[in-house]
Amino acid sequence: MQLITTCSSFLLLILNLAVVHGNCSNTLASTLIQNQLILLEKLVNVLDNVSKYRCCSTSPVVFHAVISSSRTYDKGSPWIYDQVVTNVGNAYNPSTGKFTVPTKGIYQFNWYTLNAPETLSHAGLYVNGYIKARQAANNNGSTKQWITAGSSMALPLNKGDVVYIKDINYKVQLFGQWTAFGGVLIN
Ligand SMILES: *[C@@H]1O[C@H](CO)[C@@H](O)[C@H](O)[C@H]1NC(C)=O
Ligand SMILES: *[C@@H]1O[C@H](CO)[C@@H](O)[C@H](O)[C@H]1NC(C)=O
Ligand SMILES: *[C@@H]1O[C@H](CO)[C@@H](O)[C@H](O)[C@H]1NC(C)=O
Repeated sequence: MQLITTCSSFLLLILNLAVVHGNCSNTLASTLIQNQLILLEKLVNVLDNVSKYRCCSTSPVVFHAVISSSRTYDKGSPWIYDQVVTNVGNAYNPSTGKFTVPTKGIYQFNWYTLNAPETLSHAGLYVNGYIKARQAANNNGSTKQWITAGSSMALPLNKGDVVYIKDINYKVQLFGQWTAFGGVLIN
């Protein structure tokens, strides 16, 4: 809206200057004003369309889910965050752990992992089976080591792409409630 207001003021200024510097023929001045008004209307329409496209043309998509109770996953098995906190757009499947992109766009993902003390986890973010980002939580220092690893990344994705988390290297022991996966369509 700010942009539209600024551009409208600018056009009105041009319109006034055209009248002042014209030869004062009423016909010419009124033709100029009419043309300028048509232009102004067109510009406002275009800007209106642009702002609609930028902010509100797609439905919101956001999900966040946690692993409900402590669980072990083999290397290569997608982690299933079975307890849904939010799932606007319903694109995250809590039975498979997979998020299927509903509309082309830029998505921001985040994932947090707490694995058992004296164990390791290397959670990879995968898109259609290809790794895009890595995370390490090496809690093998002592029986008292309880450190949550957190990672995040933004990705341009196409409709139908499948996004999930699995361990790159290890069989893992994950803690319920402290291990989470989320994403949001940001553009
Ligand atoms: C003013 O503009 C009109 C329309 O173009 C033209 O016919 C007329 O000769 C112009 N007059 C002067 C003084 O330039
Ligand atoms: C604005 O968008 C509408 C609907 O998509 C379209 O019909 C119209 O031609 C557009 N206007 C301009 C000036 O781009
Ligand atoms: C933790 O595991 C890594 C990878 O296997 C190993 O390099 C490291 O020495 C281990 N650290 C401790 C304190 O056991």
